[in-house]
Amino acid sequence: MSAKVPLTFMPEGKMVQVRAGISVLEAARRSGVPIRTRCDGKAACLMCKVTTDGQGLSTIQPMEQRKLAGLDAEGIRLACQAKVCGPAIVCVPEDPLRAAVRKQLERQREEPLW
Ligand code: FES
Repeated sequence: MSAKVPLTFMPEGKMVQVRAGISVLEAARRSGVPIRTRCDGKAACLMCKVTTDGQGLSTIQPMEQRKLAGLDAEGIRLACQAKVCGPAIVCVPEDPLRAAVRKQLERQREEPLW
């Protein structure tokens, strides 16, 4: 049986205990944290990018490195490939649709009604 380790999802600050060795994507799913994906964890869509300081995650493997090549990939990992090994913090980017809706609502709040 694997030990449990703390994983924190930012910017929510949601901290969960997860079994060491599972992927960040799987941990997010089990914790109700939405991470976009189209390939269901096969390292094909590159939609599951998260940022991290790298601590507490598995070392980047050649396939993930190839997938991220050409991107400004400093601190970026694929949530489907990075495994949780120890206490870790990952930052999940806001869903683009949700961000657009939030910005529109903020604009409406700032504009006077008449
Ligand atoms: S889920 Fe598609 S690349 Fe990670």
